[in-house]
Amino acid sequence: MERILQLRIVDIIPETEETFSFVLEEMDGNEIHYKAGQFLTLIFTINNREVRRSYSISSTPGVNEKLQISVKRVHNGEISRHLIDHYTIGDIVEALAPSGMFVLNAGSYKDKDVLLLAAGSGITPIISLIKELLYKRNANAVVLMYQNRSNHSTIFRKEIQKIADDFSTKFSWLDFRSSDQGNIFYKRLNNEKLALLIPRYVKHDPAKASFFICGPESFMRMCQYTITLMGFNSGQIKKEHFVIDKPPAPPLIVNPQPAKVSILQQHITFETMYPKTILQSALDQHIALPYSCKGGRCSTCAAKCVSGEVIMSMNDVLTEKDIEAGLILTCVGYAVTDIMLEYNTDAAGKVN
Ligand SMILES: Cc1cc2nc3c(=O)[nH]c(=O)nc-3n(C[C@H](O)[C@H](O)[C@H](O)COP(=O)(O)OP(=O)(O)OC[C@H]3O[C@@H](n4cnc5c(N)ncnc54)[C@H](O)[C@@H]3O)c2cc1C
Ligand code: FES
Repeated sequence: MERILQLRIVDIIPETEETFSFVLEEMDGNEIHYKAGQFLTLIFTINNREVRRSYSISSTPGVNEKLQISVKRVHNGEISRHLIDHYTIGDIVEALAPSGMFVLNAGSYKDKDVLLLAAGSGITPIISLIKELLYKRNANAVVLMYQNRSNHSTIFRKEIQKIADDFSTKFSWLDFRSSDQGNIFYKRLNNEKLALLIPRYVKHDPAKASFFICGPESFMRMCQYTITLMGFNSGQIKKEHFVIDKPPAPPLIVNPQPAKVSILQQHITFETMYPKTILQSALDQHIALPYSCKGGRCSTCAAKCVSGEVIMSMNDVLTEKDIEAGLILTCVGYAVTDIMLEYNTDAAGKVN
């Protein structure tokens, strides 16, 4: 079920002291199809143990020739350090096909305000979206509010500056730096400043504005609360979580029964039973369904439920529209009845 890509590292670019971009190509020379804002899930085997980590794609299809991910060192982090310290040009990494729902809607973004709020390594999917908006989607009202500690720790500073120079009337960059910013207003983005800035930058129909948020949890929470309190609805806000908490305990299901899961087009059927998630039941039976975080936050495991009922213990990634379309997360999903799932190209372009 899972499509595993073999990717060769063709370049490694230092972005800051702690962040390195890895430029990748498929070993068989095929083009890697992805959407701006999506991520790759890398798969490693360390001491006979499989470890997966997702990395957002910082390149943009049709703008950058090759796919690129950008990895920030996490102190004591297992995989980020492993990648940065041990991988070199020519090495091969395995990955699931690109996936994720932190993507733009179809169509033009002309005369629609797009506000992108990033902090630290949260810039990786955001820069991909900015390039897509400006170079390919006719966007003329794009605003980046980007929080960093300092000039030196700002990932993609040169690239963002070039975009700001090339699109000076269409793109605004608000450069928040907590330790070396001269202007006190632009030191730390907080809820009060955001509430002041949003009306200044939403110049067109507010109902058509969109917000993309990626950064540490506290930053994302602050942005989401502020935007929501200002009257924008949840369908206008997309978030990408990098840090995954453990999923919550299974929801209470009255009278749980074993249930049959059928995967359309794959002729795969297996049994699941509460309190196991659909994904865990499959993995325990050696059925390789796609996943990454196992925490309801990345969407790698999303599938369309075409019949039957599924309860999710959490969902921090599917929008109301996705749920209406039948999408569920198998990693936090429990089958209440027999269900039929479809892994296919969905509205967000996810291909499994
Ligand atoms: C959808 C998605 C996209 C992502 N995109 C990127 C990306 O573009 N670039 C990137 O560098 N990372 C990205 N991440 C984070 C990445 O997957 C790893 O979590 C990160 O590299 C740490 O992994 P590790 O094995 O080094 O650390 P672990 O050994 O897993 O963790 C060590 C400790 O660090 C904490 N931790 C984990 N991740 C972070 C983090 N990002 N910041 C601070 N503390 C953390 C953990 O909670 C743990 O306490 C993304 C994650 C997701 C889910
Ligand atoms: S594997 Fe990440 S949401 Fe399910």
